[in-house]
Amino acid sequence: MKPTTVTHLRQWKQEQRKFASLTAYDASFAKLFEEQGVKVLLVGDSLGMTLQGHDSTLPVTVADVAYHTRAVRRGAPACLLLADMPFMSYATPSLACTNAAELMQAGANMVKLEGGSWLCETVKMLTERAVPVCGHLGLTPQSVNVFGGYKVQGRDELAAKQLLEDAKNLELAGMQLLVLECVPSELARKITEELTIPVIGIGAGNATDGQILVMHDAFGITGGHTPKFAKNFLAQSGDIRSAVQQYMQDVEQGIYPAEEHSFN
Ligand code: KIV
Repeated sequence: MKPTTVTHLRQWKQEQRKFASLTAYDASFAKLFEEQGVKVLLVGDSLGMTLQGHDSTLPVTVADVAYHTRAVRRGAPACLLLADMPFMSYATPSLACTNAAELMQAGANMVKLEGGSWLCETVKMLTERAVPVCGHLGLTPQSVNVFGGYKVQGRDELAAKQLLEDAKNLELAGMQLLVLECVPSELARKITEELTIPVIGIGAGNATDGQILVMHDAFGITGGHTPKFAKNFLAQSGDIRSAVQQYMQDVEQGIYPAEEHSFN
């Protein structure tokens, strides 16, 4: 199978071809996802919640993400593999370089960082040193204590303007992909239209170039609170392979996320 690269994602954006991606944390699911045709996987620091049982992503370490990245890479050799840089692992540009190197050597194709324009210097430094960067704006879970909870971001005019500005600044600094989490659909549409790089949404409506779901949310095995944007594809499909197919098809056809999964 030909490896998926960021160039493919750019091409899909130009062709207005939507794509579905998932988180993965182990070789078996990664293999199944790749076999079903998922082209982009993320070893998310959501593993702190889904795998480790914490109530936030803050306890996750670089070693944790590297361990799961190695496993996912073995299962899905051709996927474009993103790895999350955990809380505080990119607090300075040089710390970011050291920790990103570990994730790239574990098999990631790109690292994902949460935050706005303050990250521009880091993004530039990583990109210049051959580490492609995916940004993450909106509800950035590592900032849960700053936000005072998991809340939709960019709802008022000023906050929306700031998010758009951050996205543009990060793109200028070298960011090659962006995840937008829990922002109003219209804002996500605007950011997607104004950036030349692909934008992946989660709780950001269906106008983004791609979508991502935490795999546990896609299969309805999220313990406790289920986010508004989540959809249990296993419930309607009956088996995991069909659920993945349904998710991909619904994203490609713009059926998922629907209004009920979005914020306005
Ligand atoms: O950690 C994660 O799984 C993520 C996704 C929610 C995008 O960042």
